[in-house]
Amino acid sequence: MLFTLARPAIFTLDAEHAHRLTIAALRLAPASAPPRADPMLAMRVAGLDFPMPVGLAPGFDKNAEVPHAMFGFGFGFVEIGTVTPMAQKGNERPRLFRLVEDKAVINRMGFNNDGAEAVVARLKAGQSRPGIIGVNIGANKDSADRIADYATMTQIMVPLARYLTVNISSPNTPGLRALQDAGALAALIDAVLAARGNHSCPVFLKLAPDLEPADIDDITRIALEKRLDALIVSNTTITRPALHSRHAGEGGGLSGEPLRDLAQQCLRDFRASSGGAIPLIGVGGIASAEDAYARIRAGASLVQLYSALVYEGPGLAAKINRGLKALLTRDGFATLADAVGVDVVGVD
Ligand code: FNR
Repeated sequence: MLFTLARPAIFTLDAEHAHRLTIAALRLAPASAPPRADPMLAMRVAGLDFPMPVGLAPGFDKNAEVPHAMFGFGFGFVEIGTVTPMAQKGNERPRLFRLVEDKAVINRMGFNNDGAEAVVARLKAGQSRPGIIGVNIGANKDSADRIADYATMTQIMVPLARYLTVNISSPNTPGLRALQDAGALAALIDAVLAARGNHSCPVFLKLAPDLEPADIDDITRIALEKRLDALIVSNTTITRPALHSRHAGEGGGLSGEPLRDLAQQCLRDFRASSGGAIPLIGVGGIASAEDAYARIRAGASLVQLYSALVYEGPGLAAKINRGLKALLTRDGFATLADAVGVDVVGVD
């Protein structure tokens, strides 16, 4: 309600300015506990007990400034980042655009973040509070050895993160997505897993929606061989489905509604390729309980969202949680886990 009233004012601001103000306001909010586990919606994935299946996607809270405030909105988990070893400014502004008519966002932020040291300090300060906080890690733009950056970040973050996401799918760091190629990916994952040492912290891999079928099969094979804990599908797209807003021509990654079908198809492709042998986390264009449910029925064990928050407001996660329960009841499922992958056709 408050959001509906405030939205026109927020939308008069430049998108990045509005985002900074939102984070500043949230920093003043009291820390919230995560929602209580709902017997119908709770999910166990990679050895972690998620009280609710909807997570906050990375990019909203890159620097771990407000993860605990976000739990208060009904998110079952919060992924912070992307964090790189050294702080970096990212690309020139403007670099974040609202495509209002398309319910979409284009960003070319370029991994602007406070760097590992500052983020570690914030995570340590909140360590005693409950809630699943995942840390999404990346490489610095000017790094001479990107794989070494991921290994460094792994070493630094495994004592603090409930899970780690290796992000090799941002379109805004030139060359980064080449780490999705089979040879580079195997070397990267070996380095990350070696750097994890004896910690039990699960490692997830976040992928682009713009992959060829052969890439999907290679990535799945490597993820299974190396025993990664989950695949996150997907990041923003560099493709441009039909758009209508004045910012449609901006460069960067597109997210929100125009990404939904592509991300859904990409999830289906990873489910088909993996046969259900690795958990999948669905993200991209999810804006309603129906969207989340479709992703789950296609094989996702959890979902994440970001762009729809801009248009639907902070009540969205709680609304999706309620809607999911209604949809499960309608279709005769006792739990969300029973609905994972039910739309997958064919034999595994
Ligand atoms: C992102 N996203 C993102 N992902 C990531 O792994 N690391 C990051 O730093 C960022 N940064 C970022 C900034 C902004 C402004 C946006 C809009 C998005 C991608 C995000 O986590 C998600 O994968 C996509 O946005 C698709 O989901 P939605 O936004 O359509 O729900």
